[in-house]
Amino acid sequence: MSLTRTETSAGGPGLFGTRATGTAHVVGRVEDVPPGEGRAFVAGDVQVAVFRLRDGSLHATQAACPHAGGPLADGQTDTDVLVCPLHLYTFRWADGTSPGGAGPVRVYPVHEEDGRLVVTV
Ligand code: FES
Repeated sequence: MSLTRTETSAGGPGLFGTRATGTAHVVGRVEDVPPGEGRAFVAGDVQVAVFRLRDGSLHATQAACPHAGGPLADGQTDTDVLVCPLHLYTFRWADGTSPGGAGPVRVYPVHEEDGRLVVTV
């Protein structure tokens, strides 16, 4: 399922910390992602990992780790970073960069709309 409208991010994290322009896609419902965990979805033709933090915030990134393809949806996270489950590189939610030196991940705007998860890619 997807929305038909196109939106422009008004700020916040985008691709590598830049503002993103893209298409908004409904990928599921908020309750599909338990608090404190991540789940993999498809937004259009892009595989994404969406996280719902315990503080209620939402984050989205590419599904595969840029280091060696690890499943980022299975990673651990807090309000600042995501940790890949395979080799434990970390990635900042703010801009996708890795303090440990791995390549950056793409981070995508995500928000809730009437209980639905909307990711813009
Ligand atoms: S595959 Fe993610 S850190 Fe290696």
